[in-house]
Amino acid sequence: KLETVEPVDSVHSLGDAGAAVQACKRCPLYEHATQAVFGQGPERAEVMFVGEQPGDQEDLQGRPFVGPAGQVLDEVIEKVGIDRNKVYVTNAVKHFKFEPRGKRRIHQRPDGGEVQACKFWLNLERDFVRPKVIVALGATAAQSLLGKASVTISKMRGQPMTLPDGSVLFITNHPSYLLRIPDVESRQRERAKFEADLAVVREMIE
Ligand code: URA
Repeated sequence: KLETVEPVDSVHSLGDAGAAVQACKRCPLYEHATQAVFGQGPERAEVMFVGEQPGDQEDLQGRPFVGPAGQVLDEVIEKVGIDRNKVYVTNAVKHFKFEPRGKRRIHQRPDGGEVQACKFWLNLERDFVRPKVIVALGATAAQSLLGKASVTISKMRGQPMTLPDGSVLFITNHPSYLLRIPDVESRQRERAKFEADLAVVREMIE
């Protein structure tokens, strides 16, 4: 049976939460991951980007969005002119879920129970950071933030909506979706749409 062992009573800051998450056993994903990967960025960021879960590189390095998807995100943030000092990046789920295949670890999508269990940490991050805008990168993040079982990105993207705490949720694609498009032209088209979405986000935080 899973137990909640992290010392939540002693969480008084974002730093405390980042330390406490390492003891998290709210779902079974801690068993095989290298470590929990908490969010990163200033304690009072204007915009919070929420991905799905750490990938292989993030799991090893202990930092969010440091692998290939993170590189795309960094490039687009820079291109549209979002000030990095205003950006906090995190994930809906803090442990890497994967299936071993030979020497490789193949990403597996977290299920609804795992997303729900990890919402505890995302909520703490939201409470401490108090971002004006929250950008859900992909369906898992959107499901977590909306508390819905399924979300269709194509229907919801680019339409800002106000969440109960007053922050504005903006849904777009996950950057790793762009990396998976084999056809160059389609990939460029999708990348342009992603850039246009983040340009809207920049305008919302100015
Ligand atoms: N993909 C995510 O959703 N998050 C990361 O941190 C890295 C890749």
